[in-house]
Amino acid sequence: MRLTRKATAMVLASMMAVSLTACGSSDSSATATTAAPAATEAPKATEAAKETEAAKDAATEAAKEAEAAAPGGGNIGVCIYKFDDAFMTTYRNALQEILEGKGYTVTVMDGKNDQAEQNNQINNFIAQGVDALIINPVMTSAADQIIATVKDADIPTVLINREPTAEQMSAYDKLVYVGCDARQSGTMQGELILDTENKGDINGDGKVSYIMIQGDPENVDAQYRTEFSVKALTDAGMEVEELDLQRGDWDRNKGQEIAQNDLAKFGDEIEVIFCNNDDMAIGALQAIQAAGRTVNEDIYLVGVDALDAALNEVVNGNMTGTVLNDANGQAAGAVEAMEALLGGKTYGAGEQSIYVDYVKVTPENAADFQ
Ligand code: BGC
Repeated sequence: MRLTRKATAMVLASMMAVSLTACGSSDSSATATTAAPAATEAPKATEAAKETEAAKDAATEAAKEAEAAAPGGGNIGVCIYKFDDAFMTTYRNALQEILEGKGYTVTVMDGKNDQAEQNNQINNFIAQGVDALIINPVMTSAADQIIATVKDADIPTVLINREPTAEQMSAYDKLVYVGCDARQSGTMQGELILDTENKGDINGDGKVSYIMIQGDPENVDAQYRTEFSVKALTDAGMEVEELDLQRGDWDRNKGQEIAQNDLAKFGDEIEVIFCNNDDMAIGALQAIQAAGRTVNEDIYLVGVDALDAALNEVVNGNMTGTVLNDANGQAAGAVEAMEALLGGKTYGAGEQSIYVDYVKVTPENAADFQ
């Protein structure tokens, strides 16, 4: 038998009564009043003590019931947009490990990059009566529908990795987004290029000629990284020339194909390859090497995430740099926010995005992240 939300609230309330009692042992009658308001009518210490005992018994009973129903305190449903994503694999493993380490029962579902499939998974989790949901939406444009669904079911929910607008989130106060501010990662990518000896202008013609390999343009991460990486250059007074911009959908093979075609088409004109993530950058690196080009000599290459493979390439000089997208920090933040929601915290409009910082990764500090 599962514990209903109401029963969980009762457990929490009675446990709170007990812990308040424990904190105020210097003044038992006052403490008992806090724990059980009925005691104000019978202020005698003996009456209050009885109330406290009753609260303790109720708490013990309810806690036993809770333990039997949901070991570790709760069933958590996790929806990932697709398992076949390098960064989200690191992220979901971290999430699962933290949740299980805390004694939660966790079920993680693969949305297979299909919003309809993920909607079914969310509905199934709700039907099963999970205590909380952690959702990495397949499509940011589906956020309204997802939020309406979890609100209707009154399930505390943490959204991760694909950020909806503040306005969309304001529809439900038991919902938060935990992620990063993608503008920061774009700016850092631009700075990595500005930090090179020629600020990206390898051939000295007065402009930085680049190709942009974009993630799924539906995600704000892809939009902002594309915009802010270039903005960092222009803000620093550099002239830029975009030779190509194509969507690589966060995918290594697509990154390789786009870079291969562009290297064949534009040749030495390409001075910088910006990739919205590392997996596409690793693909682009294969194309760069196949074309006989050399990173940090006749071309620059930057990504985002700090995947292990990318960190190795940064250390070896085959990538100019990357940006740490802190999967562990975000997973820990998501669990913390989920626990706050389970504890009854609600979030007002404008305070529903919780950000973890990105970190610039260069050959100098890459080993720190390996
Ligand atoms: C990561 C990508 C990942 C995407 C998934 C981004 O924040 O940088 O590697 O594919 O999230 O939504």
